[in-house]
Amino acid sequence: MIVARDYKSFIEARSKLNGSVGFVPTMGALHEGHLSLIKKSISQNSATVVSVFVNPTQFLAGEDLNKYPRPESADIKICELAKVDILYMPTIEQMYNSDELKISAPKIRGYILEGANRPGHFDGVLQVVMKLLNIVKPTNAYFGKKDAQQLILIEQMVKDYFIDTNIVACDIVREPDGLAMSSRNIYLSPNQRIRALSISKALKRGVKMVQSGIYDTNQIKDTIRDVIEPEVDTIEYIAITDRRLKEINSIKLDDTIILIAVKIGSTRLIDNIWI
Ligand code: PAJ
Repeated sequence: MIVARDYKSFIEARSKLNGSVGFVPTMGALHEGHLSLIKKSISQNSATVVSVFVNPTQFLAGEDLNKYPRPESADIKICELAKVDILYMPTIEQMYNSDELKISAPKIRGYILEGANRPGHFDGVLQVVMKLLNIVKPTNAYFGKKDAQQLILIEQMVKDYFIDTNIVACDIVREPDGLAMSSRNIYLSPNQRIRALSISKALKRGVKMVQSGIYDTNQIKDTIRDVIEPEVDTIEYIAITDRRLKEINSIKLDDTIILIAVKIGSTRLIDNIWI
């Protein structure tokens, strides 16, 4: 595996790859969720590129940019063992200049849900993903449904800007007890971690209601609220939308996402389920 830390050495290594190239962009602190994307890419492409870059422009002032985990040597080891071809770990200076052209998230879909609670977050995500797709020029790029809105906006960006990459949506990987894997889970104390289980429990309860024939989204949202409210400190949103992120009143099978964002202590957690 080649570890490239600047654009020039990345391009040199990239020029030696033949056939289809799969790409998995990450912010590092790699866990089984990231690894499932990497494995999928390896199984579907001739070569796989992973990037690790804690992107400053997608963090709002006061968020966890400085304390975001950066276990660099563990990340390198994980990619090496997985048989990644190139690991790209650029510096901030390699990726940004002080007066650059900006990509803006769409005014509606980029400013609801996560975007309402983190205004400007998706401008930063799309800015860096656009750069990375242009640098890596992958055949396929892999994104997790865990960040549902991010995935949907990236699909839109690729379409709106005629980017020649196929976006592959990957299922959420969970801990055996149901907690969605996240680099931020390490912020949780043992007690907070137990309380966080209410999120996946509530999503499962929502699915059960649908399976029993209840399609009224307000009724489902009320039940979800009852499950998580006693356990979390703040509910940022409980939303039921279609796959274009439009709120719906009645469940549409194969076209529905239930999304939750909460805070436990100072840790922000998101989770969702696609039904
Ligand atoms: P990061 O949070 O490191 O996630 C990288 C990719 O892994 C994303 O596509 C995310 O959805 C996916 N992922 C995270 N946890 C997952 C889980 N439990 N199951 C399945 N997939 C999971 O998302 C970002 O980084 C950044 O915003 C990025 C796209 C790299 C741009 O900076």
